[in-house]
Amino acid sequence: MVNLSFFLLSALTLVHAASSPPWYPSPEAGTVVLDLRWKQALQKAQQVVANMTLPEKVNVTTGVGLEMGLCVGNTGAVDRLGIKSFCLQDGPLGIRHADKVTVFPAGIAMASTFSRDLVYRRGAAMGRENKRKGVDIHLGPVVGPLGRHAQAGRNWEGFSADCYLAGKLGAQSIMGTQSENVLAVVKHLVGNEQEHFRQFLEWKFIFNYTTLQAQVSSNIDDRTMNEAYLWPFADAVRANVGSVMCSYQQVNGTGSCENSALLNGKLKHEMGFQGFVMSDWYAQQSGALSALSGLDMSMPGQDVLGALFWGPTLTTMVLNGTVDEARLDDMVTRILTPLFYVKIDGRKPNFSSFTPNSEGPLYAGVPKIQFNQTNTTVNYHVDARDVSSQDIALESAQAAVILLKNDYGLLPILDLPSVSSINVFGIASQIGPNGPVCAEDMTCSDGALITGWGSGSVYPTEYQSPYEALRERAMENEVYVSGTTVSWNLDAVKGLAAEADINVIYVLADSGEGLGQEDGDRRNVSLWHNGDELIKTVASMNRNNIVVVTTVGPIDMEPWIDHVNVSAVVLTGPAGDFGGKAIASVIFGDYSPSGKLPFTIAKNITDYIPIVLDVPKDGKPQSNFSEGTLIDYKRFDHFNTTPRYEFGYGLSYSNFSFADLDLQVEESISEFLPSPALPLNASKPDNLHPPSISDARIPPGFKRIPSFVYPWVEGNVTRGPPFTVDTNSSRVSTASGGVGGNPMLWSNVATLTHSVNNQGPHGSSVVAQMYISFPQDFPTAPRQLRGFDRTPLMLVGETRQLHYNINWRDLAVWDPEIQSWRVQRGEYTVYVGRSSRDVLLTQTFVVK
Ligand code: BGC
Repeated sequence: MVNLSFFLLSALTLVHAASSPPWYPSPEAGTVVLDLRWKQALQKAQQVVANMTLPEKVNVTTGVGLEMGLCVGNTGAVDRLGIKSFCLQDGPLGIRHADKVTVFPAGIAMASTFSRDLVYRRGAAMGRENKRKGVDIHLGPVVGPLGRHAQAGRNWEGFSADCYLAGKLGAQSIMGTQSENVLAVVKHLVGNEQEHFRQFLEWKFIFNYTTLQAQVSSNIDDRTMNEAYLWPFADAVRANVGSVMCSYQQVNGTGSCENSALLNGKLKHEMGFQGFVMSDWYAQQSGALSALSGLDMSMPGQDVLGALFWGPTLTTMVLNGTVDEARLDDMVTRILTPLFYVKIDGRKPNFSSFTPNSEGPLYAGVPKIQFNQTNTTVNYHVDARDVSSQDIALESAQAAVILLKNDYGLLPILDLPSVSSINVFGIASQIGPNGPVCAEDMTCSDGALITGWGSGSVYPTEYQSPYEALRERAMENEVYVSGTTVSWNLDAVKGLAAEADINVIYVLADSGEGLGQEDGDRRNVSLWHNGDELIKTVASMNRNNIVVVTTVGPIDMEPWIDHVNVSAVVLTGPAGDFGGKAIASVIFGDYSPSGKLPFTIAKNITDYIPIVLDVPKDGKPQSNFSEGTLIDYKRFDHFNTTPRYEFGYGLSYSNFSFADLDLQVEESISEFLPSPALPLNASKPDNLHPPSISDARIPPGFKRIPSFVYPWVEGNVTRGPPFTVDTNSSRVSTASGGVGGNPMLWSNVATLTHSVNNQGPHGSSVVAQMYISFPQDFPTAPRQLRGFDRTPLMLVGETRQLHYNINWRDLAVWDPEIQSWRVQRGEYTVYVGRSSRDVLLTQTFVVK
């Protein structure tokens, strides 16, 4: 039965939520209790800011312009105070535009490991590589898009359509990266769920949607915002993330980088975020409004047409009183504090994002005709990789492999000693015709899928194709491997398909960021390169076929999944440098799969939520999140829709028993959060250099580089018309009061343990998942993930205890009436099992 009240509630709250109420003034850093290390960093930043002149402060807040430094983003330096130009580089699965770096498995592949440990270690390894390349600020991890739409172009950059999983893994990634003195940036806040119409000018003029009047607005009701889309950002804040990137599209009718309700109200006040908000590249759309609404750093420094919202304009706005000096001070304090917190050092980028050659211009963004610069060494080709980063990348790629089907025990091959030949099929088995780095930002897909495309891609340096990896592994057992990538002329594959003991068919589905090309989002969820027909043809010729899918998200498997000869299916997200090797080790049985689907695979494409593809009459596309929190498995469970493979599903070569469930729940669990502590005084030292027009002038004799963004003003500064916002529109939220929000949100209210035993026949890691169903006064999805663990059981017969902490927030719903969280009274049920539908242990408890 469809729960109508759920929709009524969502629909009603949506009516309220499609506009963003004002929330001013922007909260200052340092008004909540901080850990000692952060507090010391804050005090140091405050001292530095007190000694800065107006243009020096502005210089830190504004990028120097696109391609005007070696990294994708570069801030202005303050030499007098030893503040260098910071290097900002994508992210999130390695180092974009660099050579000799590791391509780690993408976020979506990491999510299928369900491993906090691996995600932390990958984050730390990326941190180390960034440091070696001279990067200060790593533009990752991604927890938005979350994955509302199966077809959204950038889902693979993030972890999972489940906000709990995305939040926990995002936090590990941040802690790992920041432990290596590199700042992490969680992105994109918030509702960045599709590429179509994400930016106005891009879609209107480059992709020719002439009637477009504004970028798409993600209209998200209050409950959904808190319980789904903001949820993982709160985990990131709690993990002391240094920066949050606001997104391109609008949130409830206002650009997310000038959305005071979002940045001031939710992020800085309610979640107590202490770092800085950076704009996505060209996502800023206003000067004063974005400053007052909580934006702290403008990237890349000018807008797409070259106009300057900040830089000299911000200097002018402080001089003429439009933007309070205190707001600028807070921006700079928020930027410097986390950089001091992670102990940033004097490293400099030793590579260029804009040429692969050793020699090149320092300022690639300025046309030759305007500025004659001689090339210098920009790429030192420093090898950032080391044995440990390679090991982590391989281990992660192995742990990411999901075994979906294994009829007749076809896998692993080592269990079938009589196999002597394998034939390999599919374009995805080989490196494409243009090499592993197939095009700029990997915007192509005519070979093995290593990463998706766009700013989140990384160039492989030495890449072994899946075919080569399988061949190398097979040789150890004297198994002969041959194959073809022919995918369209299927008559030509038939002979080969009949020949070998086993066929392995590598197929893929790719997507990416709508960067300079319209097709970021997928047009459908089908396999690429005639994959369905290839599988069916090969399967029709041989009894033993293994399908290997590498994909950016859910795919349609219906054309072949029930084919009697498709005996085994393994699936992985884009798994980076070692994707091929990982698959080979799973196929042979050196590694028993333990990966679990981080999304649902539907039987019907209509079971997914469609992307908004049309421009309405008024030119302003609206994406109404009217399904509320019912995305991915929550949606399938709610509507009782049978998926092909559910969220959390994945087989192993071994069998596991789960037992001994023990649930300890606090005697009394508070229904509401306690009042938050009163804000502390930010207690800053006095400024030594009040804003002055003389400081703001360009120093005599200074030679400008054309296109470079400087903070200095020219001409006279006169008071303009006042820019007013309602400075009394802030509201104290009871959900506030600490880093990550009211500390009680994170307090432990229940603990659950159970044992898991490996019953053989293989040593293997195992992933367990814990879901909770809530009382329905506030209708919620039938089950929500609230715990997971992955543990190695390498000996047959081995038993281990798994342990889950349940926080107060894990039981809470957002009550729009009181504008805060509450824990409903009533019966809760915990489910522990192998997937969201395969439950092995269950217990209820009552919150009185
Ligand atoms: C992307 C961001 C990225 C930025 C810098 C934008 O197009 O949306 O995720 O960090 O570019 O490359």
